[in-house]
Amino acid sequence: MPTVTITRRAHFSSAHRLHRSEWSEEKNFEVFGDCANPNWHGHNYELIVSVEGPVDAETGFVMDLKRLKDIIQDGVVADVDHRNLNTEVPWLVGIIPSTENLAVAVWNRIAPELPHGVRLASVVIRETRNNSVEYRGEKEESR
Ligand code: NI
Repeated sequence: MPTVTITRRAHFSSAHRLHRSEWSEEKNFEVFGDCANPNWHGHNYELIVSVEGPVDAETGFVMDLKRLKDIIQDGVVADVDHRNLNTEVPWLVGIIPSTENLAVAVWNRIAPELPHGVRLASVVIRETRNNSVEYRGEKEESR
């Protein structure tokens, strides 16, 4: 059976701040730049989720893309869209909401929800037009 990767895209807009409370304001701005602004700021994030698996002989699908859309919406977008990532999202508590950490947290939200036999292949999050991150999971769970 051929293994195929399918991809679904979503968007969300969120506020955040990158800082460490044990660091001085100067050091926070030095390390995190504009993202250290104490009064928050927002990004229009693009989330691109790819899953892979065998093509089902009956449907011709790896999985129903509507179901993948719902998993992303219910597990991620509903919690983060128009929210403050530092203070309003239970599954981000205690995590610096960098795009890297966000991608790993999103992975952990989506991976357990996929149908049997379908594997999460990558989570890409674009924070700006020019900056994006990709998480492909850890080696031991990747095959
Ligand atoms: Ni930022």
